[in-house]
Amino acid sequence: MEIKKQQSLKGVLSVPGDKSISHRAVMFGALARGTTRVSHFLEGADCLSTISCFRKMGIDIEKDGEELLIHGRGLRGLNSPREILNAGNSGTTTRLISGILAGQKFISELDGDASLRSRPMKRIMDPLTAMGADIRSLMDNGCMPLRIAGRPLHAVHYNSPVASAQVKSCVLLAGMYADGVTSVTEPFLSRNHTEIMLNYFGAKVTSQGTTASILPEPELSAREVCVPGDISSAAFFIAAGLLTPNSEILLKNVGINPTRAGILKICRQMGADITLLNEKHQGEPTADILVRTSSLKGTVIEGADIPTLIDEIPVLAVMAAFADGTTVIRDAQELKVKESDRIAVMVENLKRMGADIEGTDDGMIIRGGKPLHGAVIDPHMDHRVAMSFAVAGTVCQGSMEITDGDCVKISYPGFYEDLYRLG
Ligand code: S3P
Repeated sequence: MEIKKQQSLKGVLSVPGDKSISHRAVMFGALARGTTRVSHFLEGADCLSTISCFRKMGIDIEKDGEELLIHGRGLRGLNSPREILNAGNSGTTTRLISGILAGQKFISELDGDASLRSRPMKRIMDPLTAMGADIRSLMDNGCMPLRIAGRPLHAVHYNSPVASAQVKSCVLLAGMYADGVTSVTEPFLSRNHTEIMLNYFGAKVTSQGTTASILPEPELSAREVCVPGDISSAAFFIAAGLLTPNSEILLKNVGINPTRAGILKICRQMGADITLLNEKHQGEPTADILVRTSSLKGTVIEGADIPTLIDEIPVLAVMAAFADGTTVIRDAQELKVKESDRIAVMVENLKRMGADIEGTDDGMIIRGGKPLHGAVIDPHMDHRVAMSFAVAGTVCQGSMEITDGDCVKISYPGFYEDLYRLG
């Protein structure tokens, strides 16, 4: 994919549906009784992997015009799959579904692509094993492929060493099949879409500080889910609008759940001109986000803010490279185990553009404001890295070439078309 410097970016855009919420709508819809109707569902490759796994367990899922219909069969309505469940590139599919599979009456196997096979699964195997689950890494390396022999589970209180919504959700979902109240405490609050949506479907989930608890054997009933625009996708256009001269972009109906919206706080800290309009609350809070060209300055990104913007750090690193002054990102060691090692891959590619950046054990130090030029970028098949450098390409001198640019289809199949329309 080739991206050229833009004079200005202008227009109104409705970004695709939230990836985290789309996954959960399929999973909880499958475990509810009745037909769940989902609008603005994200048809990215990751969410299609979730659909394919549930279809293999006998759940009928169909398109009805623009909507997705999930014909749920109740908490114990899944069938034993005849084939391996393939989660593709999706960590969310793998870790959440494992919590569900651990409590079933059948054996299943889960696998994924090369990137997913290298990501840590011990973080879910540990709490599930503590609950009495039989979950094994078939290569005995704490990674996929996994074999899960479902059985009755015990309730636990799990102290998670990482602030991870995938780990938290895995334990809460397994808790639906346990013999008492299951709780998870995490070091910082991670995204809480599972807690919000499970309650909406009829489960009893409570949250206090960084602890979430669930009562077992909920009766989930089908619901209508309107998926808000994904702030993680909006982030690329927020950055592009701020960095490109003479720009004004209105992003319609974006989810601004505080456990996800850390990018807005950090952008403002960097001096960004961002206005929220038309704020609403329909289960999840949403707003239209108006972004105008701004001159940005460096900042520090750390601590409790990290889980609220973890997927936005690649594009924040690009913003920091164009900002005046130094940006320090710390407490973000989780970046090393995302779809790629996002510390190494961002450092490697920003250096190719002439940026002054160094990687650290838990983040990056970026001395911004150096003149940056186009380069050949290798995103290591990581969708968010590819989109971050597409944004860099709209601002830097010369043209930018992104190899394997179509990896954006994981979360944003129409990304380049949307960028092209605004330019
Ligand atoms: C997600 C949680 C985050 C995030 C991922 C989606 C989710 O992962 O990076 O893109 O939907 O729960 P971790 O839980 O590993 O932090």
